Amino acid sequence: MDKKKLLIVGGGKLGRQILQILAPRNVFIFYVASRELDHAVRTCNLIRQGCLQMGVSCVLHPVALELGASQIDENAAVIARIRPDIILNCASLHSWRWLRDLPAPLYAALGEAQLGPWLPMHLAPAYDLMRAVVSSRVKALTVNAAYPDVVNVVLDKVGLAPDVGVGNVANLIPAMRLAIARLALCDSQQVQVKLAAQHFLSHQLTRVGMPLQSHYRLAYRIGGKDCTGAFDDALIFNGVCTHFRSLDDQFLTAASAVSVIENLFSLNEAETHAPGPHGLPGGYPVRIGMGQVLLSLPYGVSRSDAISVNQQGQRQDGIREVHADGRVSFESEQMAIMESLLGYSIQCLHLTDVHACAAELGRKYQALVNQSRS
Ligand SMILES: NC(=O)c1ccc[n+]([C@@H]2O[C@H](COP(=O)([O-])OP(=O)(O)OC[C@H]3O[C@@H](n4cnc5c(N)ncnc54)[C@H](OP(=O)(O)O)[C@@H]3O)[C@@H](O)[C@H]2O)c1
Repeated sequence: MDKKKLLIVGGGKLGRQILQILAPRNVFIFYVASRELDHAVRTCNLIRQGCLQMGVSCVLHPVALELGASQIDENAAVIARIRPDIILNCASLHSWRWLRDLPAPLYAALGEAQLGPWLPMHLAPAYDLMRAVVSSRVKALTVNAAYPDVVNVVLDKVGLAPDVGVGNVANLIPAMRLAIARLALCDSQQVQVKLAAQHFLSHQLTRVGMPLQSHYRLAYRIGGKDCTGAFDDALIFNGVCTHFRSLDDQFLTAASAVSVIENLFSLNEAETHAPGPHGLPGGYPVRIGMGQVLLSLPYGVSRSDAISVNQQGQRQDGIREVHADGRVSFESEQMAIMESLLGYSIQCLHLTDVHACAAELGRKYQALVNQSRS
């Protein structure tokens, strides 16, 4: 099979980690897009040289691309020139991990606001990218890493949904397999898990512990046999946040992204997990292959039930509702924390205002950082 062209937009930490895993496998021609061409050139050089050191000669092309509402036509022309088979969005105005730069008590306090209120920082670049993709008329599969549990839902309302997201629910699965294997006294390779859950659950479980109220659907097989319910779910989740708690690093997200991207065009379908498939809220088990992403829910869990569970998680993440026209209402409890710590508050976001909201949030966050340093 010819090598597919993969365009990665955003050469930050996650984009680079995905490249570090994918490039040595040498199954794609890579296009690495950064705001500064020099940054893209040096990213490509780093990956090319690292691969060569491991005996692999891979093809990477640097691309200058800055997402913005006024650059849609320009970016559409870049995409049309490349004609990628897959476009991966790793661009964001504010990665969650930036909050760790704050003093620990402030980080903990702001963490209580969850990710929902930060939506504009992830939505604005994804909105600009998807408009450019549609305008380019290139039939690429689109994959979004930036808060796909909600960003993909909003974009779906205006006909711009990426095909699928990466990370979040998927990042929990290896630890859950290990936790079940520990309880069943078997090898984790024998354990298959299917989990439907929103970003809130994966974020809480891996950083804070099991939330008091958890919304999810879980099924698992051991050695091919359905064993769902054989162990108390709380015991399994507890194993995730104790025995198998890992470093808070994007390597796991990068590995989850690879499990999606590598299989998108494979001739055999692969079972994995992904957030935001086809603009659905939250995360799901999916089957990926032959250019398609399909839900792969456990027996007895309907599509509407899985969506409903994810919408409950979405509210815990600070998003009350994504309306049919793409407006987003926020939960007042989480927004009140943003107001008290940042002086930022919004009840309802209109997609047309997303850049202004992101700019305001960015300014206020920077003011907080400066204040915490002085
Ligand atoms: N789904 C998950 O499980 C998961 C896990 C971790 C992270 N994430 C998300 O993935 C995204 C990236 O995270 P990260 O840690 O890699 O963040 P990061 O290191 O801050 O990188 C973000 C990159 O976005 C690009 N960017 C920013 N503004 C842009 C613009 N106007 N036009 C084009 N590119 C722009 C920049 O790339 P250049 O410098 O190359 O221009 C920047 O380096 C975030 O949304 C983060 O929350 C998701």
